[in-house]
Amino acid sequence: MHNKQTPPKLRSLSSGIIAAAAVALGIGASSSVVADEFAQYRQFFQPIPSLAPIPADNSMTAEKIEVGKMLFFEPRISGSGVISCATCHNPALGYTDRIPRATGHDGQVGDRNTPTVLNSGLFESQFWDGRADTLEEQALGPIEADIEMNMPIDQAVNRLKEFPIYREKFAAAFGDKDPINPDNMAQAMAAFQRTLLTPNSPLDRYLAGDDGAMTTQQKRGMKSFVDRGCIACHSGPAMTDSRFHRIQVPGSTDLGRYLVTGNESDKHAFKTPTLRNVALTYPYFNNGGVDELSDAIKIMGREMLRTELPNREVADIEAFMHALTGDIPEFPVPSLP
Ligand code: HEC
Ligand code: HEC
Repeated sequence: MHNKQTPPKLRSLSSGIIAAAAVALGIGASSSVVADEFAQYRQFFQPIPSLAPIPADNSMTAEKIEVGKMLFFEPRISGSGVISCATCHNPALGYTDRIPRATGHDGQVGDRNTPTVLNSGLFESQFWDGRADTLEEQALGPIEADIEMNMPIDQAVNRLKEFPIYREKFAAAFGDKDPINPDNMAQAMAAFQRTLLTPNSPLDRYLAGDDGAMTTQQKRGMKSFVDRGCIACHSGPAMTDSRFHRIQVPGSTDLGRYLVTGNESDKHAFKTPTLRNVALTYPYFNNGGVDELSDAIKIMGREMLRTELPNREVADIEAFMHALTGDIPEFPVPSLP
């Protein structure tokens, strides 16, 4: 399936489409100049939507989002009383922590790099190994995980119940009948995270028709990204297929997806990470083993496409990666009880 390292063969496909597009242009516009030679590449990309897909059983209400936001910043649902989701998914650091591997309860260092939760409402699986399908399923894990927040969920529920403001806010979001419970906590945090979209990047503006939104170098990088086949895995609005691909990045012994499925073919397979805001979310890879974006791009060429990308092309692709930085949501950090 998608766990083999087969180099995608997009080069011939894309140049075919481009040739066809050029012919079409030639017929339609005999005298007009083609303003942007890269315009045909727009079709390979999708803008960030204005709303993330919303599951039928977790509508987005302002009340729910507000509770979820408070919980995201709430350190008192951790064993130490000092770690919140925002400790590792820090809004000031692209919703990651800028360290190779996350440091949680009692200074313990985990095995994996903290991924950004920006645009996580667009991912079709969660975690590097996809062990949760949805944000709802994902949300309670870190509270209980001994190396993350280290608090049994019942204790977290009881802690929240002590505060009148949480009793009030949960009731406003979920009704009066025992509203502070694990399911509602998960729903609220998922709803909040679905608001963390980053629209309006140079790529998004370019896709919307603003030719000047990306530099020529960024457009060349976009072309390489398609022609070389990066787009085979880094596709869709968040530039991830949410699937798993085998790769052993430098220094990684992590078995990845295999730990979830037990399938031999999933050994060292990891979820394709989003490339949205990737210029902000260093260090890179599941073990945070690579600091420089240019090195990450070279490794991708080598490991995923069996190609040594020339330095000039690496620089172009890196420039394109910078065109993926969008507007980071801005809101006042909630005041907690
Ligand atoms: C100690 C640091 C730490 C804390 C605290 C933490 N996380 Fe994470 N988060 C991580 C790491 C590391 C991963 C990747 C783990 C893995 O893939 O096995 C992750 C993964 C995720 C993902 C999946 C993103 C993706 O790209 O697959 C989401 C969503 C998420 N965390 C949300 C939360 C929420 C909500 C909280 C608070 C309830 C939280 N995290 C608390 C470090 C942390
Ligand atoms: C076969 C699927 C596939 C292809 C093709 C592919 N990637 Fe990746 N990419 C991945 C996976 C999987 C990872 C995570 C690997 C890991 O951490 O172990 C990744 C990680 C990355 C990262 C690090 C992101 C982060 O937050 O850690 C960058 C940057 C990246 N890819 C860019 C590219 C570029 C540029 C190309 C083309 C030259 C490319 N990728 C081709 C699947 C792919």
